[in-house]
Amino acid sequence: MLKKAISPVIASLLLSACSLNPISELTPTPTSTISPSLDQEATPFKEPENSTQAYTMEEVVTHDSADSCWLVIQGQVYDVTSFVSNHPGGEAILEGCGQDATVLFNTRPMGSGTPHSDGARITLETYLIGTLE
Ligand code: HEM
Repeated sequence: MLKKAISPVIASLLLSACSLNPISELTPTPTSTISPSLDQEATPFKEPENSTQAYTMEEVVTHDSADSCWLVIQGQVYDVTSFVSNHPGGEAILEGCGQDATVLFNTRPMGSGTPHSDGARITLETYLIGTLE
């Protein structure tokens, strides 16, 4: 008997909870519409610059200072200009600017004489701009 009386109350509570529809309340209403135009040329897919760009050594050697420091390491070209002032090894990095710095990077003769850490190598990859032609 009591069950029968409560059921409609529970049912109506459930219904009113559903009608609140919290998902639709959280979904933002679009403020603009994108109207595709068929006569408009699709933007051609652009490869990221660093995956295809090739540089000559002639170009690399012009970036030989703290103002513009490019390094060639294992055939890859890196623009580390913005990193120079943060280099934990100080100005030692400048010795590699504008040249193939593979040996310097791997041996650090002016320092510990050991290769850079894995962390340094990961950081290096963020400065990749291309490959040596
Ligand atoms: C090729 C030129 C470079 C030279 C000659 C050089 C040299 C050095 C030296 C002497 C140290 C001090 C510690 C030690 O002697 O072991 C050092 C530390 C360090 N360098 Fe370089 N460095 C060069 C390029 C770079 C580049 C391109 C990066 C990263 C983008 C880098 C990242 C680091 C880091 C993270 C350390 C701290 C120690 C480590 O993690 O190995 N260096 N570097």
